[in-house]
Amino acid sequence: METVRSWTERDLRRLDEIVVEGERRFKERQPRSRALIGEARAVLAGGATSSWQIARPQMVWVSHGEGSKIFDADGGEYVDLHGGYGVGAVGHGHPKIVEAVAGRAPRGTHFAQPTEDAIVVAGELAGRFGLPLWRFSNSGTEATMDAVHLMRAITGRDLIVKVEGCYHGHHDSLMVSVSNGEEELGPAERPSSAPSGTGIPAAITDLTLIVPYNDLDALERVFAEHRGKIAGMILEPIMMNAGVIPPEQGYLEGVREVVHAHDALLAFDEVKCGVTTSYGGATGYLGVRPDIVCLAKAMGGGVPCGAIGGTEEVMGRIADGTYEQVGTFNGNPLTMAAARTTLTEILTPEAYEHFDRLAGIMVDGSRAVIEEYELAAYPLSFGAKGSITFSGSRVHNYRDFLALDDRFSQAHWLFQHNGGVFLPPWGKAEQWTLSVQHSEDDARRFVDNFEAFARALRR
Ligand SMILES: Cc1ncc(COP(=O)(O)O)c(C=O)c1O
Repeated sequence: METVRSWTERDLRRLDEIVVEGERRFKERQPRSRALIGEARAVLAGGATSSWQIARPQMVWVSHGEGSKIFDADGGEYVDLHGGYGVGAVGHGHPKIVEAVAGRAPRGTHFAQPTEDAIVVAGELAGRFGLPLWRFSNSGTEATMDAVHLMRAITGRDLIVKVEGCYHGHHDSLMVSVSNGEEELGPAERPSSAPSGTGIPAAITDLTLIVPYNDLDALERVFAEHRGKIAGMILEPIMMNAGVIPPEQGYLEGVREVVHAHDALLAFDEVKCGVTTSYGGATGYLGVRPDIVCLAKAMGGGVPCGAIGGTEEVMGRIADGTYEQVGTFNGNPLTMAAARTTLTEILTPEAYEHFDRLAGIMVDGSRAVIEEYELAAYPLSFGAKGSITFSGSRVHNYRDFLALDDRFSQAHWLFQHNGGVFLPPWGKAEQWTLSVQHSEDDARRFVDNFEAFARALRR
């Protein structure tokens, strides 16, 4: 049911005060991180190992993780709901992962020749996603890049359709209309193919056509306007780089119908949703099977990983050499050992029951807080993933998401961090990731902090 609340002028004024105070406390707690940033700048560009680790008010340097907890360089302990941007479904130092990695390492960590674990991992993914053939890579970026290459190689067409605001990794074809500002988006009914970031040639971005999420009419129009020229479409079945935006009833079925009616291919980017939302990912949960599924993040149990799976027809074109899917580290034995253990011993059906139980505490608890304090917000979760969206009405696509006031998620993020819960930075875009090692107390700490935030807002 749609809520109709909205934020008041007073809320917004109060929010600024909360952010200022939250950032002051945050920095005060972390002098060692600040010193490390200074030191790192001499040898690491920008003092970070990835530009998206640099977040306001100050990057957090980490010492170690243990179970459901992460410890910063200043000795601060947090319930880790950041999960390393959605990787951490097994938690930290899981004894089975430690055993798998420690068992593999002394016997060689790289051969560029396959090991038997690869067959087990591929078989496990085939069962979960209902797609028979798989290949491995080392990141989500590589997985979606392979999907794009494969769709082009099979159809002999160049154009790709992508959803506005979806992030699929940092390769040229898909760094198009990802997190762009309003001024770059173009008309709502005909979004622009705006490059996201620098270094991406217009000649490539022009090959990527943009459609709004949850809009079948726009999709039909794009396919009709480019008849016979579109290789395929890639999307996150549940949008997860704009908070959590679920597909509307019938949307994914409609997408598949339109794409196939034009003899194009459909790829689901399940790098985030994959093995976190349910045993069979969003594909299994929502019951719409694409031609290709891209995976990474949580499937490797914390070791760098990536995978694409597909139908016989699609993946057969790798088998017959039409598309050469390659990579020195593909099927790396350390990754395969960790992925095998993750999939066969840790992320078992019981793990998803555990995620649902904890997510229930977080969603029900935060919903009660929202009611009590009359906030314009709503929680949503799918398995291990979830978020609170600071809006009185449902967000359906990237433009709705962009209109949300960033300060709410920033203020909430600071409240959680200062209260011992580490959510991913860039709060508005991101979501929590639970692990099998999280406890009900961890979930309750999140709710308690959320309530403290609500109280401060309404003071
Ligand atoms: C949906 C989605 N696809 C692809 C990627 C890229 O994955 P990686 O960072 O492993 O290259 C990400 C990363 O956040 C993602 O969220």
